[in-house]
Amino acid sequence: MFGGHMVGARRLGGAQARGRACSGGRSYTRPKPARMRLPMARCFVTRVLPGPALDRLRDRHEVDVWPDRLPPPYQELAARAAGVEGLLTTLTDRVDAALLEHCPDLRVISNYAVGYDNIDLHAAAGRGIVVGNTPDVLTEATADLTFALLLATARKLPEAIESVREGDWLTWEPGRYLGQAVAGATLGIVGLGRIGTAVAQRALGFEMTVLYTGGGQGSEAVRRGSFDTLLEESDFVTLHCPLTAATYHLFDADALRRMRSSAILINTARGPIIDQEALRDALLAGEIAGAALDVTEPEPLPPDDPLLSTPNLIVVPHIGSATRVAREDMADLAVENLLAGLDGRPLPHQVGVAV
Ligand code: DGY
Repeated sequence: MFGGHMVGARRLGGAQARGRACSGGRSYTRPKPARMRLPMARCFVTRVLPGPALDRLRDRHEVDVWPDRLPPPYQELAARAAGVEGLLTTLTDRVDAALLEHCPDLRVISNYAVGYDNIDLHAAAGRGIVVGNTPDVLTEATADLTFALLLATARKLPEAIESVREGDWLTWEPGRYLGQAVAGATLGIVGLGRIGTAVAQRALGFEMTVLYTGGGQGSEAVRRGSFDTLLEESDFVTLHCPLTAATYHLFDADALRRMRSSAILINTARGPIIDQEALRDALLAGEIAGAALDVTEPEPLPPDDPLLSTPNLIVVPHIGSATRVAREDMADLAVENLLAGLDGRPLPHQVGVAV
């Protein structure tokens, strides 16, 4: 893709506009005006992305893509970032002040995620580096997964599936696998941003009462309440706030104790919003009835992490945005952000802090 500037372009009409000019009755074909190609930049992309978006980046710039399933280790990321103008990261790449200190040419970081807690925005802003993210395109996918987890936990799907596999489906039984009703229950949403709002829409379809706390703007159908009210009144609590200093371990032992003993906690936002040790204790003590986590601290959870043997807990491997369309749209947006930043244009989705 070119920068869109045509050198020497003028307003022309008729044949001239179509590249033909008249001279003394003879016509000749005017050479196509040269397009001004903006200089090529060097880019490092930390993972192969689904869809054709990276080809558009390769058409314009010199692109180095990390080919492995695992992300580049921090030292490798630092070494490669040190020589580029454009960096396309994922949420698994830590881009901190120490790394940025050694990136004299870096002008734009495009994060392949809506969340950007992996990037030190202050350090980036201090160096004049613009940062982009990929909101909107993953909203519906993440809201769907949130609801899938809510339903799966409420209706004990993991236990039911497992018992069929183990040959324990002996007959239809009146009193087994009794879960919780979702229709008509109360859902508490922490953070009514794009994804929180999409979850609220789904909940209203289930005729749930919807409360929310934290950022966002509700509607008549969605009631704002204090954090305490939300903990006390909700049958299901779902987290959609960003990870910040204020939300780190927001769900600690005290918050979990104040939830209903029948309540279910869902997290598709960021792992460290929940204190996982406290969550395990709360589940073992029956202080809450269940939990479902798409995100954990750390990611991935080691296979021997005690959380994985905790009853009434589902853990899935951070798949909130994992539909083909969402991940390809995220790739498109991440590449658009990077191309714009390298051209010196405003990013379609820029995040930032005041410096
Ligand atoms: C994001 O984009 O921040 C999500 O966590 C990825 O699914």
